[in-house]
Amino acid sequence: MSDRVQSSSVLDRVLVLEMVRVTEAAAIAAAKWIGRGDNDSADAAAVEAMREELNKLPMDGTVVIGEGERDEAPMLYIGEKVGSAQDGGPRIDIALDPLEGTTITAKAGPNALAVLAIAENGCLLNAPDVYMDKLAVGPGYPEGTIDLNKSPADNVRAIARVKGAEPNEIIACVLERSRHDKIIAELRELGCGIKLIPDGDVAGVMATADPDTGIDIYMGSGGAPEGVLAAAALRCVGGQIQGRLTFRNDDEVARARRWGIDDLDRVYTIKEMARGDCIFAATGVTDGSLLQGVRTRKDCLTTESIVMRASSGTVRRVLAEHYKFGSQRSL
Ligand code: FBP
Repeated sequence: MSDRVQSSSVLDRVLVLEMVRVTEAAAIAAAKWIGRGDNDSADAAAVEAMREELNKLPMDGTVVIGEGERDEAPMLYIGEKVGSAQDGGPRIDIALDPLEGTTITAKAGPNALAVLAIAENGCLLNAPDVYMDKLAVGPGYPEGTIDLNKSPADNVRAIARVKGAEPNEIIACVLERSRHDKIIAELRELGCGIKLIPDGDVAGVMATADPDTGIDIYMGSGGAPEGVLAAAALRCVGGQIQGRLTFRNDDEVARARRWGIDDLDRVYTIKEMARGDCIFAATGVTDGSLLQGVRTRKDCLTTESIVMRASSGTVRRVLAEHYKFGSQRSL
């Protein structure tokens, strides 16, 4: 059976490039806070800008992965309706992270992004805001090569076999957290290269799909919402990701149950996290391996974005110049 993703006429009605306008606005708003040591203001600026742009789009959109549950997030909360065509427009589910890497932005570190993924109603996993164990590789590996139920070492050996390399030639990307000490020790034992990142695992996962980064595999736990966003991105380029929710306390378990998740140990495949046709867009806030950050010139700002679509398998990079006088110009 063909593995080709069916194009969605629902998504056709919302232009792919419109997604970039949304992430660009969020990135530009967040960029004002780069290096200012203020996580909350950076995030709030990105959220407000993203929401404003989303509400201009002719769709009946629902945020399924957002800033949190309604009582804890005043804007872009899970379940919030966005778009200017609530009455009869295409029904679209939206996963978003207006600022993926708030601490990175506050500290002027690498790889902060404004991120968005859309799919037809019901096609994105409604993941609660808990941790998720993630294992991901870029394109070129047969389905089944990676397996979250196997050890890090076994997964490295498996991809090394397919790549025709030695395990110690594999480079893994891991979030630098003490909870990953065991994974890191196991990888060191094999002699792997490890790229430790301070934050930003959407970019970390996506790095596996970019041969220029040298990263072969991503492993470790991070936010479940970021896992779904990364799954949407990898769907567009033929990569693979598996995820398993992890719970630190009864409250998180209860939250997952409210989401309708009964099997708490389930390993989600990429297609269970992002089904059907989907579009993924991201704009760089700070410079990173994937995208250049927002740059300020004398008379304009520049942004670099990526927009990808699963059904067409297209990856577009959009370099934009935003002239500061643009909105004041008389037409
Ligand atoms: P924020 O944008 O919410 O700060 O998330 C950054 C991030 O590094 C994610 O990329 C990652 O999934 C998560 O935080 C990891 O969580 P923690 O910092 O608790 O380990």
